[in-house]
Amino acid sequence: MDTDSFESAVKLLANAKHICVSTGAGMSAESGVPTFRDKDGHWSKFNPAELASPLAFARNPQKVWAWYRERRSQLATVKPHSGHRVLADWERRVPQFTLVTQNVDGLHRRAGSQNVLELHGRLELTTCSGCTFSRVDLDDLGPEPRCEQCAARLRPGVVWFGEELPHAALSSAFAAAEACDVFVLIGTSGVVYPAAGVAEAALAAGVPLIEINPEQTPFSSHAAIYFAGSSAVVLVGIEERWKARTP
Ligand code: OAD
Repeated sequence: MDTDSFESAVKLLANAKHICVSTGAGMSAESGVPTFRDKDGHWSKFNPAELASPLAFARNPQKVWAWYRERRSQLATVKPHSGHRVLADWERRVPQFTLVTQNVDGLHRRAGSQNVLELHGRLELTTCSGCTFSRVDLDDLGPEPRCEQCAARLRPGVVWFGEELPHAALSSAFAAAEACDVFVLIGTSGVVYPAAGVAEAALAAGVPLIEINPEQTPFSSHAAIYFAGSSAVVLVGIEERWKARTP
């Protein structure tokens, strides 16, 4: 992470008419939300097949809900960090800004970001497995909640393994990745598809990629600028230099 990298990143960003940012669990790590594949991540403790799949839910809804209730209650104790706020500021500054996220914690919206494409759903969303009923809150709905309208099982409004991503959000993400002037990839291991395909689409379209991740990923060697650092530290570092440069 040398000064040249920061200067080059600011140059790319300040000249861009459309910035597309894509974030993963590492974006929320400094807020205290666990990631999935790191040493202390969820998938080092739990088997995804038993917690995050339609089959797991059909077999043991109480177990699946217990895990989501726990994650929801954690959400009440965390807040966005300075890196989330930097991204919200960029949205206000540049002509066009698209924020794509795999995160379900809602921290980007809480930090003030507005154009957020939440590819994997939202922890605070509950949907019905039998009808169109849905609700948005972090209430504890009990061990095995049922729909008030049709009595079918309620489920967390997140995308599970084996399920399709929301079509409109996914196609908007691909369109933004291909049309933007610079693509910023933050805190994702880049191994879960189709979300990882969004960054691939940017590369295929010849868009320069800035990556922020303390660990290398399959994208690092393709990045125009790779920052081996944490999201808050690097974003604040970029922001300080960008502000010092204007107008
Ligand atoms: P992962 O847990 O796979 O990857 C987190 C990434 O964040 C790793 O590459 C870390 O090196 C990086 N990281 C850790 N701390 C960081 C920090 N402070 N700043 C920047 N980066 C940091 O999480 P995702 O890639 O988001 O899906 O995982 C993708 C999907 O897999 C999730 O949305 C979830 C999971 O299974 C579903 O549940 C459907």
